[in-house]
Amino acid sequence: FHLYLDSADLGELRRCLPHPVVHGVTTNPTLLRRAGVRRAGLPDLLGEMLAMGARQVQAQVQSQDAPGMLDDAHDLLRHFAPGQLVIKIPATREGLRAGAQLVARGVPVTYTAVYALEQVHFAAQLGASYAAPYLGRLDDSGVDGLALIARMQALLQSCGGATRLLVASVRDREAYLNLLRLGVGAITIPPRLLGELLDHPATLQAEQAFLADAQASD
Ligand code: E4P
Repeated sequence: FHLYLDSADLGELRRCLPHPVVHGVTTNPTLLRRAGVRRAGLPDLLGEMLAMGARQVQAQVQSQDAPGMLDDAHDLLRHFAPGQLVIKIPATREGLRAGAQLVARGVPVTYTAVYALEQVHFAAQLGASYAAPYLGRLDDSGVDGLALIARMQALLQSCGGATRLLVASVRDREAYLNLLRLGVGAITIPPRLLGELLDHPATLQAEQAFLADAQASD
């Protein structure tokens, strides 16, 4: 199982990394914009994340046609060692084309913005590392996101390949726990949710009580 942080904000990432439960960081153009990072600054930003202890980073192409997507991907890939960077590509008609070429060259690919079973099947057929459905946004659109993701997970298991779900748009602890129950391969969460998962108030309170008792008996 791989847990990623979904953020382009180095300040909030620095408060979380390195941590042994966190495998890496996922970004997308919306997160970059929110963090005020320009496209030209993306390789440096990703390099900083790796230096902070992310074992892998994921960054998205911005073009909409396959040749442009491949150019975007190669512009990023030349800055990193093999395996450090996963290329995220929207699961569009053109995205599937571009991703297939990257996979053929040994580049790990995440098909993102996945909303339907057939997209998951294409990701598996093309040998992508991940298909990334958006749980919260599926729910927003009136679909039962968890039920659909359960079907996606079953489909991948029946395909028997190496493609895994990387579930994004995970907004609360309940959603996270439901996904764990489904056995999805990876989840990406906002750093604030990692804080909630790592710092259980009752555990912190117990630790304080142990500390007080330890000091009292010294
Ligand atoms: C994924 O790439 C997005 O950053 C993320 O899932 C957005 O989720 P939200 O719509 O819940 O903010």
